[in-house]
Amino acid sequence: MTASNISTLRVDLGDRSYDIKVGSGLIERAGELMAPVLARPRVVIITDDNVAPLYLDALTKSLNAAHVQTDAITVPAGEQTKSFAQLESLSEKLLELKVERTTTLVALGGGVIGDLVGFTASVTLRGIPFIQVPTTLLAQVDSSVGGKTGINTRFGKNLVGAFYQPKLVLADTEVLNTLDRRQLLAGYAEVLKYGFIDDPDFFEWLEINGKPLLGGDIGLRREAVLSSCGAKARVVAEDEFEKGKRALLNLGHTFGHALEAESGYGGGLLHGEAVAIGTAMAFDLSHKLGLCDGQDFGRAVAHMKSVGLPTDFSTLNAKDWTVDALMNHMSRDKKVEGGTMTFIMVKGIGKSFITQDIREDDLRQLLARWLS
Ligand code: GLY
Repeated sequence: MTASNISTLRVDLGDRSYDIKVGSGLIERAGELMAPVLARPRVVIITDDNVAPLYLDALTKSLNAAHVQTDAITVPAGEQTKSFAQLESLSEKLLELKVERTTTLVALGGGVIGDLVGFTASVTLRGIPFIQVPTTLLAQVDSSVGGKTGINTRFGKNLVGAFYQPKLVLADTEVLNTLDRRQLLAGYAEVLKYGFIDDPDFFEWLEINGKPLLGGDIGLRREAVLSSCGAKARVVAEDEFEKGKRALLNLGHTFGHALEAESGYGGGLLHGEAVAIGTAMAFDLSHKLGLCDGQDFGRAVAHMKSVGLPTDFSTLNAKDWTVDALMNHMSRDKKVEGGTMTFIMVKGIGKSFITQDIREDDLRQLLARWLS
């Protein structure tokens, strides 16, 4: 593979700018690709026990071939790993390895690994560099880019964390071949998000190309990752700390996080699945409030359904859930300001907006209908 097979996007953040490299076979070339951004040729790779058997050897070999010294730490796979307990154990293992401020952490895995490793990097020795090597579609198109890092607490998802940018993102599209369909679909929900937010042409492209992309078309996958990362890089460059426009990337997430919290973080509901259901809820509420016409609402849900994404509560174990419990989760959202919840609503596909003007009654009615 030649360097020209690699597409490079830049996240423009002044002295914290970095590249996102997208292409096939990047893990095997990680040594040469990472070397220019390492302060010293020493890294600690952190991965999980699902990903380690697949890619840890290849990544280690490539780094060693580029004369980079490596250590590796493997943590359990799954959302429960984004915890205070793992943060403590991981940072202590790093201190045991005598990491220095010039040692770089490499997050090899999906969103859980990226978020945990990024946050650990932000607090260990008051901040050491890290690189993202995302191995799920969801992590490649969303969570590895933009510097949101963190862990879950019993009060909800991602409520403890930091904005802390990586030095490089290596999105190797070849790894998507080993993802099971459910994981791939969960990532596709975040790809769709970019169309729903402000890019109706991209949504239309996905209506045509979504199925072959999910079916394994490598070229289409690469295009989708590139378009998604390009959109994300632009938003992050404009609003790194989510004072405004970046909140649009949370379309479907306020509902989705409540569903995840109520499901427990045991793998019953994947983040992307929760986002798909949450997006259907956001379209439904927008439609009920007369903001979005029925045609766009129907089109959005129809496409998600047609590829196999969940768009209602039928796959959830929700029979004992209550409106109050879901409202309680949503009231802990990071976008709550002065007690008022912020929502991302839509005026149609590609026409999202931020609002604090959603009445509690309307929300409660929506939740009651979805629960019934
Ligand atoms: N995943 C949403 C964001 O990075 O802002």
